[in-house]
Amino acid sequence: MKKVKLTLNPLDKKSKINKEIYSNFSEHLGRCIYDGIYVGEDSEIPNIEGYRKDVVEALREIKLPVLRWPGGCFADEYHWKDGIGDKKDRVKVVNNWGHIVEDNSFGTHEFLRFCELVGCEPYISANVGSGTVRELMDWVDYVTFDGVSPMAELRRKNGREHAWKLKYIGIGNESWGCGGNMTPEYYCDQYRQYATFCREYSGNKLFRIACGPNAYDYNWTEVCMKKITPWNMQGLSLHYYTVPTGDWDHKGSSTEFDDKEYYDTLRSTWQMEQLVTRHSQIMDRYDPDHKVGLIVDEWGCWYDVEPDTNPSFLYQKNTMRDAIVAAINLNIFNNHSERVYMANIAQAVNVLQAVLLTEGMKTIKTPTYYVFDLFKEHMENTLIYSHIENENAADGVPVFSHSASINENGEIIVTLANCSLDEEYEVQLRGVCGMESVRGRMLTGEVHAKNDFDDPDAVGIVPLEVGTRDGKKVIKMPPCSVAEIVIR
Ligand code: AHR
Repeated sequence: MKKVKLTLNPLDKKSKINKEIYSNFSEHLGRCIYDGIYVGEDSEIPNIEGYRKDVVEALREIKLPVLRWPGGCFADEYHWKDGIGDKKDRVKVVNNWGHIVEDNSFGTHEFLRFCELVGCEPYISANVGSGTVRELMDWVDYVTFDGVSPMAELRRKNGREHAWKLKYIGIGNESWGCGGNMTPEYYCDQYRQYATFCREYSGNKLFRIACGPNAYDYNWTEVCMKKITPWNMQGLSLHYYTVPTGDWDHKGSSTEFDDKEYYDTLRSTWQMEQLVTRHSQIMDRYDPDHKVGLIVDEWGCWYDVEPDTNPSFLYQKNTMRDAIVAAINLNIFNNHSERVYMANIAQAVNVLQAVLLTEGMKTIKTPTYYVFDLFKEHMENTLIYSHIENENAADGVPVFSHSASINENGEIIVTLANCSLDEEYEVQLRGVCGMESVRGRMLTGEVHAKNDFDDPDAVGIVPLEVGTRDGKKVIKMPPCSVAEIVIR
């Protein structure tokens, strides 16, 4: 077994790790909303006011901070007035994800109620591609205005007396692509207009998020930072997906992959480090005081869909490989928390790298879910210096991914992934003299291991074994493992 040292310096405090880094994304796509989140009050599936009880509880357990909705590409074809009022009168429209019927039974009230039940903040992604400024202005009024206006009256007529609080509002989604195929210059003009009419009513403070770049489109970031002034934009989004093969026509299977494809997946994931660094460097030139947050509001693995499922539903399974990918991304976001304000994995339920999968009455927690559980104690902590003696598991793929933070009580939280498929490591903790108590939790398994509906607990969190060697605390990291270490 190889031995390495992990050095921590709790006195070297860096940026705050916003809880928002641990957020999710939910879209009217496949079985994310209908079936995954919402089954209706008459369903045999145990539910709270029509929302799957097990999904509400699971998201509460990981302390989900923010949920983005209604898309995705769907957001730029969503007209919010279709989704309010008596359900039997709601208009049925085409959802272009599979050209299926969208009956609009899950709309604004349902989404905001779901967020209340989960205890998370809503993040509404608004329609710029096929909507109007008036439509968005009215939506903000409907949701947040406690005074007298046609929209506030309409909300009251629909059963909600008091306005909700809404902080996060996205102005368009992927406006460079499905959201309108705009040039960055054109989008910025649109943004300035739309954002101006997102009014702040009744003490509600908005955090306006501009549509940012697709992956390596550095020019998009440059133009947005140049043309949109920080007072009118609090966040700029970034979308980047891990595609194992790098070929969107043959992305690779979610469950069947060899060692090479595993390491290719991780190499693709580590691109996030470069993307966050370079987009941040551009943002730094225009916004040295970090007033505008980088919002990675779509990230995760995107594989070929499961055989015999609707290709537009983006349904895939989730293995220990996904757990490692999640750990790498979340550690990158922690380590760049001076700029990364929020991140939203795609997606919460039944779509892409889902944290939860449902089938009929059953819900399973994926390995990715357990990584969110292992990392949740970082929320609102302060990032501290950490360094590990690292080496490569494969060309361009480091063995370890890690980050460390300190909380108000002086406890240190470390999250560490051993990404090697065959090497076990003994990790010695350094720089924490006088802190005697070390405990933690771990997720580990063969890289193809997954939870399935007939074996829902195949992969799960186990206690971390902590030992002592030469007077120093040591932990064992088996191949393909993710750990949370708590030191006090
Ligand atoms: O998450 C699936 C899709 O990926 C979203 O709708 C879109 O924004 C992105 O291209």
